[in-house]
Parts: sequence; C-alpha cells; structure tokens
Amino acid sequence: MFATNEKLEIIMERIVECHQDYFHDIENANKYLYDAKNASKARFNNFLSSIKKLDIKGKYLEIGSGPGIITQVVATQHPNVEITANDISPEMIKLAQLDLTEDLMTRVKYMIGDACDINSIKDLGKFDLIYSTFTLHHWDNAELAIKNLYSMLNDNGLIYIHDLKRVRWLYYIKSQSGFFNSIRAAYRPDEIKAMLNRIGIKEFEIRPVFPFFMQSILIRK
Ligand SMILES: C[S@@+](CC[C@H](N)C(=O)[O-])C[C@H]1O[C@@H](n2cnc3c(N)ncnc32)[C@H](O)[C@@H]1O
Repeated sequence: MFATNEKLEIIMERIVECHQDYFHDIENANKYLYDAKNASKARFNNFLSSIKKLDIKGKYLEIGSGPGIITQVVATQHPNVEITANDISPEMIKLAQLDLTEDLMTRVKYMIGDACDINSIKDLGKFDLIYSTFTLHHWDNAELAIKNLYSMLNDNGLIYIHDLKRVRWLYYIKSQSGFFNSIRAAYRPDEIKAMLNRIGIKEFEIRPVFPFFMQSILIRK
C-alpha cells in the first residue's frame, strides 16, 4: 500500500498524461460526457462561484471544453457574454454541439483547435476572460499553451485555469486509478511559477483550492 521513502523521490516525478488519443475516441468522449453530468458539482463550485463574483464583461474563451458541461453553466450564469469554446478533440466538439440547449445557441460556439498550436486558435480573436477546467495537465506543452493564450487576451483581461495539483502525500499511495494518475500528471505550484517566469508573465496568482489537490491559476494582462 505505501511506498518507501527511498522510492518516493523517484515516483514523485510528474507522469505525462496528454491523453490526446483517449479523448479522440467517440466512446470515451461519450463516457466523459456521462461522467461529467453525474459527477459531484463540488469540483467546479470554487471555479464557478469565483468567476461569477469577478463578473467580467465581454468575450469569453474556454479552452478544452470537452462536452461543454461547464460552457453551458458559465453561459447561463453570465447572460450577457459570448463564449467561444474550444477543444482539440472533434468528437468532444460534436458532443458539445449536440448537447447545447437552444436558448444558448446564439451566444455559444464550439470550435476545434489546439491550445499548443497558435495557428489553430489565433483567428478566434481576443478575449476578456480565457478559462479552462481540468485540462492544464493534459496539454502536451503547457508553457507554450499559456504563452499562446496570453497573446489572445485583451488588455485588463484574465486567464483563469482551474486544475489538479500534484501533492506529496499522494505518492505514498500506490493506487493506479485514473483519478490518482491525473493528480500525478498535474503541476506543482513551483513548476507553474517557473513556467510563468520563463514566459515573462509578471501578474499572476496561484490559489490553493479545497480540496487540497486542486488549485487555480489567475493571470492578468
Ligand atoms: C478532462 S477533459 C476536461 C473537460 C472540461 N473542461 C471539464 O472540466 O469537464 C480535458 C479536455 O481537454 C482537451 N484538450 C487536451 N489537450 C488540449 C489542447 N492542447 N487544446 C485544447 N483542448 C485540449 C481534451 O480533448 C479534453 O476534452
């Protein structure tokens, strides 16, 4: 059940979990939609209440929207904003389009694109809020993706990334469940700070979020 101390430093390495192929499969995309609809809302509560309070006006971009569960909640919560929601997986985008309720169709559009490839997203325009939930640990080049998103932010705009956080205690547990592996694939705050420093981003905050294996990264322009 528990790893020894000698092994700990080795296994605390980040496990890469880009999962691109996984989300490109229609069955997996459907399973994700089903799970997301039935999942505890607790994992989104902090993010949703926080952006509701911020009440940012203008245009929103969601990165890695998956089947669009959060897109629809954010659109309903902010009745005056337009949301462009993006995902690298055409299957996820198909599901999101099918699931979109009629009342939101004029304000929400879904587009295929890769956050790590500026050419695939730059034509979407500039945004006042760019947000992403549970995707940072899937991006195959997180630093490049953040740099790309920063370039698509309007002045005074905000990037809000809500994701898992790799925590030490987890490495004492050998469980290989999907969820535990996702936490092992997530970034530590010091790794995120180093990335932002390398990009040259000065104004940011890395917020701890309950429960303690989650975090939010807020970047201002
Ligand atoms: C775990 S799901 C999260 C979906 C949704 N944000 C949520 O919180 O339910 C991760 C999503 O990120 C997408 N994704 C992964 N890498 C991406 C990239 N480089 N650009 C855009 N989307 C990406 C995947 O296709 C997948 O739909």
